[in-house]
Amino acid sequence: MLTRRQFIHRSIGSGLASIVPFKSESGDTNLAKTFLLNAVKSAHQIVPEQYGKTDVWCFDHSLPGPEIRVTQGDIVRILVTNSLDEETTVHWHGIRLANAMDGVPHLTQAPIAPGDSFLYEFTASDAGTFWYHPHQRSFEQVGRGLYGALVVEEPNPIQVDRELVWVLDDWQLERTAQLSDRFGDMHDISHAGQIGNTVTINGKLPDQLKVSTGERLRIRLVNAANARVFGLEFESHNPQIIAIDGHPVTPHTAENEQIVIAPGMRVDLVLDCVERPETMFSVVDRFYSNQAYKLINLSYGDAVIREHVMDSPIQPPPNPVAEPETNNAVNHVVELTGGARGTMEGAMLNGHWHDLRSLVHNGKAWAINGIAASGHVMDPLVTLDLNQTCILDMLNDTAWHHPMHLHGHTFRVLTRNGNPGRYQEWQDTVLMDPGERVEIAFVADNPGDWMFHCHVLEHQAGGMMGVVRVG
Ligand code: C2O
Ligand code: CU
Repeated sequence: MLTRRQFIHRSIGSGLASIVPFKSESGDTNLAKTFLLNAVKSAHQIVPEQYGKTDVWCFDHSLPGPEIRVTQGDIVRILVTNSLDEETTVHWHGIRLANAMDGVPHLTQAPIAPGDSFLYEFTASDAGTFWYHPHQRSFEQVGRGLYGALVVEEPNPIQVDRELVWVLDDWQLERTAQLSDRFGDMHDISHAGQIGNTVTINGKLPDQLKVSTGERLRIRLVNAANARVFGLEFESHNPQIIAIDGHPVTPHTAENEQIVIAPGMRVDLVLDCVERPETMFSVVDRFYSNQAYKLINLSYGDAVIREHVMDSPIQPPPNPVAEPETNNAVNHVVELTGGARGTMEGAMLNGHWHDLRSLVHNGKAWAINGIAASGHVMDPLVTLDLNQTCILDMLNDTAWHHPMHLHGHTFRVLTRNGNPGRYQEWQDTVLMDPGERVEIAFVADNPGDWMFHCHVLEHQAGGMMGVVRVG
């Protein structure tokens, strides 16, 4: 048995990801799945080799960072070491965990100083597709490549031939193949955020996905981009959406055949490969209708692995999320304002009223209920009693898209523009269209101060952030 200190000492830098028993802070000894993540500056071959490598910041010199894969119910311990020149933290996006493990600088922990480490621990109570990323200066740290997938497998996973994880991202590359260093640019903050010119799957320019006739795939999509929304169309194929933000949904095909996945979100697909051998089909991203591009080709080999597609069930079992009592709920209105082409005249910042010009002068362009956030610590936007059901009635009074993310909880999407949704999806990040009104409901069953913010990371930096206090 190693002590914690010996363990840390012996395993730093080894890239070890294994099951290691060791004593936790509380002194209990149990089997936890233990991982090490080292935030480093590195270089990665994003574009074809002749253009050279791109300097990135990433975990363990890997882009995306190492995949963390555990089973539902596991205790997970992750020792994060900061080898950057600036402070960082890691947030486990979508995981319902104790507040102190949520990775929000100053609000839930002191930031990890350069050279220091922090041990995160949580129980993976929900199965599904999640991800991790820093919450410190996210627009630059995530933008430079610090993120990875966190997969919590169901104890009895649905049957498929192959499972893929696609971490989607985009980059603003110069001709030198280096990242443009205009992170946090005021134009990006006040418009759509930083939309890059190069889209990657798992840190590489995608080319083709080889498939076989009759094959059933599960594809776990993660959108790690700062600002780009994807709207994926699979030519001649009809993938079923089986989970959103990790949580199972009644399997269905996407409206208008376009799988929409906003920054921060995850979508699990089941793709049945129904076409003939030696054929090729494209997956096209058409979210921005005037900028459609081909993401990747589905390329059929000559094999036929089965004549008819599998007919086994594809719906994973539900996660243990408390059901909101919507007829016994507290209602709170959340109004998003600001941005270019908006009507916001100004907002409160650091306790004082600022007109729009003065906000912009301070790097802000957005407000929630009239307040522009200037850091992670602030008076709560909403305060809830423990175990109270809360309905947030959210209005996007801006000309831009906002994927709104709540920490520590999973909510049901009840209505859009007053219309009840067909699937009442469980999500932790919900995309709001310009002018759209969305109602969400959740049980405030996790005590603490939780971030609630736009996952367009430039909008978050530009003030679109608040705190939901529970208990
Ligand atoms: Cu994925 Cu508060 O973030
Ligand atoms: Cu936004």
